[in-house]
This record gives sequence, C-alpha cells and structure tokens, in this order.
Amino acid sequence: MSNTGTSTGIRVAVAGDIAEGEAIKVPAEQTGHGDAIAVFHDEGAYYALDDTCTHGQASLSEGWIEGGEVECPLHSARFCLKTGEVQCMPATVGARAHRVAVRDGEIWLHPGEEPTV
Ligand code: FES
Repeated sequence: MSNTGTSTGIRVAVAGDIAEGEAIKVPAEQTGHGDAIAVFHDEGAYYALDDTCTHGQASLSEGWIEGGEVECPLHSARFCLKTGEVQCMPATVGARAHRVAVRDGEIWLHPGEEPTV
C-alpha cells in the first residue's frame, strides 16, 4: 500500500483483494480524514463510506453488504453504498461517502471527494 497524496488518492487494494460482498477498513492514519473509511465491493463496483456507523461505535466494514446497501452489524441500520444516505432506523444521519476509482486493476480511495457514481 502507498499514499501518494490527495490528488491521486490512496491505493488501498488491487482488484481481487476485496471479494464480492466484502469490505476492507482503511485506518484513519492512512486516510488522513479523521475516521477510518470502509471500501466495499458490491455487484462488481466499489464504494467507500466513513467506517464508523453514524448511530454508534460499530464498523460498517464488518456489516452485511447486499443490493447496494450495507447493514450495520450492531443495530441493523442500513446505508446506501453510493451516497451514504441512511435507509432505515435506528440511524438517522447518513454516512459520508468518498470517491473510489479503479485504475489498471488497482483500487484507489479519494478521501473527502464526492463519489462520481
Ligand atoms: S451502531 Fe450502527 S445502527 Fe446502531
């Protein structure tokens, strides 16, 4: 892994490292963003949200990923993977979404940038 700055993002994985329906947690020290960021693989695409659930101290990278959403492992609030928008209680605040790009088979995270999907 390497951090080449915000203009090109952070290379967090290569395609195949994150299985379909799985996620990785990029630690806050690496994101430079104040929170860890979860990078998800769902239906052939990659998405990123702040890792800490907006409802409590749970890691969304450990949640259940399906149908474009992630379900929090603690109380089952769901968030849209594309936008971070909250889909159901008990969370009431959306998760911040970040841009992910796949370039030459590598997965790049752009912390703080709006997703383009
Ligand atoms: S901590 Fe995620 S729904 Fe409660």
